[in-house]
This record gives sequence, structure tokens and C-alpha cells, in this order.
Amino acid sequence: MEYAVTTDRLTRVFGNFTAVDQLTLQIKPGEIYGFLGPNGSGKTTAIRMLCGILEPTSGTATVLGYDLSRETEQIKRRIGYMSQKFSLYDDLTAAENLGFYAGLYNTPSRERKSRVQEMLDMAGLIGREDELVANLSGGWKQRLALGCAIISRPAIVFLDEPTSGVSPTSRRRFFNIISRLASEGTTVMVTTHFMDEAEYCNKIAFISSGRLMAVDTPDNLKQNVLAGCLVELDLPNVMDQMESIEQLPYVKECSVHGLLLHVLLEDESSLGALEDYTGVPAKPIIPSLEDVFIALANKN
Ligand SMILES: Nc1ncnc2c1ncn2[C@@H]1O[C@H](COP(=O)(O)OP(=O)(O)OP(=O)(O)O)[C@@H](O)[C@H]1O
Ligand SMILES: [Mg+2]
Repeated sequence: MEYAVTTDRLTRVFGNFTAVDQLTLQIKPGEIYGFLGPNGSGKTTAIRMLCGILEPTSGTATVLGYDLSRETEQIKRRIGYMSQKFSLYDDLTAAENLGFYAGLYNTPSRERKSRVQEMLDMAGLIGREDELVANLSGGWKQRLALGCAIISRPAIVFLDEPTSGVSPTSRRRFFNIISRLASEGTTVMVTTHFMDEAEYCNKIAFISSGRLMAVDTPDNLKQNVLAGCLVELDLPNVMDQMESIEQLPYVKECSVHGLLLHVLLEDESSLGALEDYTGVPAKPIIPSLEDVFIALANKN
């Protein structure tokens, strides 16, 4: 199988609003494929279509070689899905939740016990298996939800903002697990608003207003997306000066990064003019993924 997922002009319309607009993409087996975009850009809608939960308005797709419209049931049986609101049962224990999902995904009954154990181990939940989910903190719940999504050993798992609301330590730990899964051949499609997590992805697709704006490796996006010369300014009062800098004819875009201002110039020829205007050095820098994100989001 050349691709784990292909979509061809996949589209979803709600009333007269187009949430996903002619999305065409390919995901290779074993890839960690990051799906990025502003709130409301259509990430969840696209994932729900690929999981067979939401019917496309038009366009086609294949998941694990199966046709999304004709072979929905085959797809549903073979994928894992962790929704934006983890679907755990608060009044069941960690182990009971895993057992429930093992049953739901038709895991052979003689394997269920060992699979539950394996997932508890993966999630670092050994010793807490009999704890009610209601009493688990965010990071545990998150890893348990992942365990529920992959207990059937799906060839592909869709993770929709799996790390929102958990601490940096838990997020790091979660992505280590994802990396291990991918290295063992599982395809992972993941949405996130954290740029450090996007860095772990082999490929990033960026969507805005339902449209695909760019797909590439994190490094290539940083090299290629921003047209112009990006510089960093260390100004004493960033917020006050940003507005007037944005008005300069040779400035394309400004954004604040901590105490520093990132300014995108048409090209290097206006470096001197900017330095004269602000009175501080303008240091050319390689864009971060956050710069790429902002530039792509502003394009639409
Ligand atoms: N069932 C629905 N009926 C009507 N509109 C919907 C429905 N589901 C989603 N939308 C709209 O489609 C757009 C895309 O929503 P979606 O949830 O896919 O965005 P998202 O990229 O996942 O955003 P976020 O980053 O906030 O999770 C939004 O404007 C949303 O309001
Ligand atoms: Mg979403």
C-alpha cells in the first residue's frame, strides 16, 4: 500500500458554509502527519470524515486502501480515533475503559486481558488500573484515551488535539509514545496547536478556512513559506512600536514573540532603512514554525 490515506477534493458543507474545501492530500504509512490550522479551519471536520463518522459532501478518499464512501465499515474496524473531547467513561476504572474499547473494536477475547495490560503499561497506569477515570488527572486521562484508541492495534490512528490541557511533561511523554508507535509502522494523523509538537511530525499540512495552504516537512516549510527576509528586533517597547512599524512600506508583516518583534521585509535591501527607523539592529533569522503558521493563517 503506497498511501495510508489519500483524499481527492474532499469537501464538507454545512448549510451554505464550507468547512472543508476540496482537500487533496496523501499520507504515507508510518508517517506522523501533523494537521495544523487556526480554530475553525476544518481539522476536526476532515478527521471525522476520514473516520467515517461524517459523510463528505463531495470528493473522494481512501483509508488503508478502502474507499471512504463504499467501504466505511472496513475502515471503521481498522482505525483508531481519539476525539478532541476524550471519550472516556468517568464512572468506569482505567482498566474497565480499556476493556470496553477492546470489546467495541472486536479484539479477540482471549487477547483482551493482555492488551489491556499492555495499554496500562504504555500509559504508565500500572498501579492505577482500578482508579475511577473521574479521579485521574489530565495527563493520565490523555494517555488512557490513547490506549483506548490503539488497543485494537490499528494501522492508523487519528488524534484530534490529544494534548490540549495537559502539562509540558505529559505532552512530551505523549509524543514519545507517538514516535514509538510510528517507528513500529503505525500511521499517525494528529492535530495540534503546539508548535513544538508540530516539530516532531514528518509532514505538516496546514489548512485555513477549510483549504489546504501548504504541505511539507517542518524544515522545508520554514525555508520556503515566507517570501521575503525575516528579521528579529529587540525593542524596548514592542507593543507601542509594532503598529507604526507595520505601516512602513517595505514591511509585510509583524508579530510579537516574547519580548522580541519579528518583522517580515520584502527583501534584504530594506534592512538598513528598518534599522535607521527603529534605532536597533535588525537581525535576519530563520523563521520558526510559529512564523510559518502566522504567515499562512494571514494569507486567507
Ligand atoms: N455539525 C456542524 N454544523 C455546522 N457547522 C459545523 C459543524 N461542525 C463544524 N462546523 C463548523 O465548521 C468549521 C470547522 O470546524 P472544525 O471543528 O472542523 O474546526 P477545527 O479546525 O477542528 O477547529 P479547532 O482548532 O477549534 O478544533 C467551524 O466554523 C464550525 O463551526
Ligand atoms: Mg477541532
